[in-house]
Amino acid sequence: AQNRLLIKNGKTVNENEIVEQDVYVEDGIIKQLGRNLLIPGGTRVIDARGKYVIPGGIDPHTHMQFEFMGTTSVDDFYQGTKAAVAGGTTMIIDFVVPKQGESILDSYYAWRQKADDKVCCDYGLHVALTSWNDKVKGEMKTLCEKHGVNSFKMFMAYDFYLKDDELYGAFQRCRELGALAQVHAENGLIIKKNVEKLKAFGVTGPEGHEMSRPECIEAEAVNRACVISKQVDCPLYVVHVMSKSATETLKENRDNGTWVYGETLAAALGTDGSNYKHSCWHHSAGHILSPPLRPDTTTPKCLMEYLAQDVLQLTGSDHCTFTREQKEMGKGDFSKIPNGVNGVEDRMSVIWEKGVHSGIIDPCRYVAITSTNAAKLFNVYPRKGCIAVGSDADIVVWNPSKTRVISSKTHNIAIDFNIFEGMECHGVPEYVIVNGRVCVDEEQLRAVQGHGKFVETPCWAPFIYAPEKMDELTAPKNNGALNEIELTNKLAKIELE
Ligand code: URP
Ligand code: ZN
Ligand code: ZN
Ligand code: ZN
Repeated sequence: AQNRLLIKNGKTVNENEIVEQDVYVEDGIIKQLGRNLLIPGGTRVIDARGKYVIPGGIDPHTHMQFEFMGTTSVDDFYQGTKAAVAGGTTMIIDFVVPKQGESILDSYYAWRQKADDKVCCDYGLHVALTSWNDKVKGEMKTLCEKHGVNSFKMFMAYDFYLKDDELYGAFQRCRELGALAQVHAENGLIIKKNVEKLKAFGVTGPEGHEMSRPECIEAEAVNRACVISKQVDCPLYVVHVMSKSATETLKENRDNGTWVYGETLAAALGTDGSNYKHSCWHHSAGHILSPPLRPDTTTPKCLMEYLAQDVLQLTGSDHCTFTREQKEMGKGDFSKIPNGVNGVEDRMSVIWEKGVHSGIIDPCRYVAITSTNAAKLFNVYPRKGCIAVGSDADIVVWNPSKTRVISSKTHNIAIDFNIFEGMECHGVPEYVIVNGRVCVDEEQLRAVQGHGKFVETPCWAPFIYAPEKMDELTAPKNNGALNEIELTNKLAKIELE
C-alpha cells in the first residue's frame, strides 16, 4: 500500500552513528528501526544494500519567487521545492523579505500565500527586518507566538540595511522573544563608495562586483555583528559566510565568548571567484551573489575544513535564481546585476562530493551540516534532521557508488545555466521520501505540488541546541527579557528528553 514502506539492508546515518538496520515507515512517520522487523503484508520494500539511508536535507536559506533588485527570482515554490526534492532536500526555510516600511506580518501572510499550495516538501520561514520601529517590534512578537517564526534576518548591506543601534534593538528583541538573530554581514556603505570609485575608473563588467566587496568588507561586518550581539547577549547566526577572513573573524569572536553560529553555501564550497574573470559576460554574471565568491581559489576547501572542525555549523544554498536575460539588467553597470545563484537542487551532491568523497568529512558530519544542525537550530528536531522512531519520514537513500554530472541540460530549476555546470558528483539520491511518499523513485522525480506543509519553528531553539548556554545567562533587571521561571521550565524539559 502507498502509506507503508520498508527500506531494507541499508546503513542509517545520524550525526552520531551509522547503523546497519531497516527502516519501517507508515503514514508519513518512521515507525520502527531494526533488524527482522514484523511488517504488515503489502508493504512496499526498497532494497538499500550498499547504500546510506540519511535524513532528508534541510536547506535553511532559499529565496523562491523573490522580488529583488528590480526583478523576481524565477524558481517559485513549486519549481524550487521540486528541484530541492530531486536533489535530496526535503525541507527548505525561505526568507520573508518585507518592503521597507511594509508590515512584517502582512509580508509573512503574502509569503504563506505564495508557498502553501505550491510546495512539494515541507517549509519554514525566517522573516527579514528591513526597517526598525515599534510596530516591527510588536509584530515580531505576534510572528513568534502565533505564526511559528523563530528567526529574523537583518541586512547590513543593500538599501534596506539596519544601522548599528537598530541592529542592537533588533538583537535585543530577539533575545526577549527567544528568537535567533540572523545577519547578512557586509558593510553596505563602504561597498557603495567602492562601487562609485570603480565606475569612475571605468569598471562596468561583473568583475567589479567582487572588487567592490572584498573579504575585509565581509569580515568587518561579521565582527561588528558579533560585538553587538555580545552586548545584548543574544545568540547570532551569520548567513552565507563566504570567505576565510569572515570565518576567522567569527571564530575569534566565538572563542572570546560570543554565542554565534555560521552558515556557508553550496556555491562557496563548489565554485570560486575565478568565474568572475571568465571571458563570457553571462558566465561571470551568472555567478554573482553577495557576499561574492572569492578570488582565493583555496577558499572552497578551506570552508569545508571549517565545517569539519565545527567552526561553521550549517550549509544552505541561498537559492535565488535569475535567468541570463534578468542578469542583463546589469549590462554596463555591474551593480545592477541581480544578486543570486542556484543551489537548492545540487547542494546535497556538491557537499557530498567536496566533503565526503574528497575525505574531509565523514557521512555523520555530512548529515549534521546538511540536515541535523538546521533542524536543531530552528527547533524542528527530532521531528526532522534524524532517522529515529517518531520522526517524519523525510528520508534519502543515497547511493555513494553512482555518479552524475551537474548540467543545465538536466537540472529541474527554471534558469538556463548552472554555476556547477560540468561538476562530476559521486553519490546520487536514488530514492527521496517526503513525508512517507516516494518522490524520487529509482532516480525518477515524482514530486507532488502541494504535498508539503508549512512547519512551525518554535522559539527558544538556540537554547535547545546548546542547553549549556542557559547557565551562562543572567536574567536582565527590568525589561523582563529572559523570564527565569520560563527558562527553568525550558531546562527541565530538555533534561526530560
Ligand atoms: O546575492 C544574494 N545572496 N542574493 C539573495 C539575497 C541575500 O542577500 O541573501
Ligand atoms: Zn543575504
Ligand atoms: Zn557564454
Ligand atoms: Zn539569501
